[in-house]
Amino acid sequence: MSEIRFDGRVALVTGAGGGLGRSHALLFGARGAKVVVNDLGGNTDGTGSGTTMADRVVTEIKAMGGDAVANYDSVDTWEGGEKMIAAAVEAFGRLDIVVNNAGILRDKSIAKMTPEEWTRVLEVHLNGSYYVTRAALPAMRQNGYGRVIFTTSAAGLYGNFGQANYSAAKLGIVGLMNTVKLEGQKFGVLANTIAPIAKSRLMGTVMDEATMEKLKPEFVSAMVAYLCSEENTFTGGIFTAGGGHYARAAMVESPGVTLGIDAIPSVEQIAASFPKIADLTDAQEYPSAGANVPKLMAGLFGSKG
Ligand code: NAI
Repeated sequence: MSEIRFDGRVALVTGAGGGLGRSHALLFGARGAKVVVNDLGGNTDGTGSGTTMADRVVTEIKAMGGDAVANYDSVDTWEGGEKMIAAAVEAFGRLDIVVNNAGILRDKSIAKMTPEEWTRVLEVHLNGSYYVTRAALPAMRQNGYGRVIFTTSAAGLYGNFGQANYSAAKLGIVGLMNTVKLEGQKFGVLANTIAPIAKSRLMGTVMDEATMEKLKPEFVSAMVAYLCSEENTFTGGIFTAGGGHYARAAMVESPGVTLGIDAIPSVEQIAASFPKIADLTDAQEYPSAGANVPKLMAGLFGSKG
């Protein structure tokens, strides 16, 4: 297979001053993309700011012979989103790729979680993904080409103790991707979501050091780069990636049952049918909400017909 490259493409990676974002940015830079390295330069809980983190990654990309500019705006405002897209267009004349990666943590059990801890995490992850993607889409539409990556987490897909805010934000991001996929498709914009696992300061020390060392961010970046390439035609996917393992996760619906078309079913009828309702054998994915409706209607008209 010929080398997958990004010559002539411009990529914005948010939160690219360290961890996964830095690794994504370096790979894009190494393969010919011009890169906007965005990072607020704060702490893992979202406090503080600075220019050093983004600047350092720009220096690394330039040292490899690549081209990059730094941007220090926060993803969590309308202006921040606008300014980082403008930075890309100003420096490099276009925008082709956006990786929504910036993130923070404010872990606490839900009973103890303050409204501020809840809101702040949603603002950065979910609102931030909206502000940046919304600002990027017109530039991509102009090119008739675009690749958008969202970053979710197993905590959002499956739940994790102490991360109600983060889980909610991360699954909200999947909902955002589902609709960006539909709205972007006719303009050549593909949207996919990555659920990574990698050694980073956010990940901290949740596993022993030897295991952490194996979870190199570069494993995740290889998948991100593929999804952002011209070679990729898949859109609307959720891909898990970490430590050399790659897979696709999906929202599916069981075949289910149709009960009580002409009369509301009793609670007991629901109870009797519950095993079948919950049985995921032959479960199916749906490409949109509209595509899901005929399944419901088929039951409805099937009985009348
Ligand atoms: P990290 O802390 O190294 O990277 C996050 C970066 O985002 C930091 O450099 C930070 O300065 C930046 N940032 C934070 N708030 C920002 C804002 N408002 N505007 C711009 N930049 C901001 O952590 P890591 O692990 O590399 O995280 C990257 C993404 O991957 C996050 O979205 C995280 O939730 C997600 N993730 C990571 C996992 C892992 O195993 N490392 C697991 C699942 C998801």
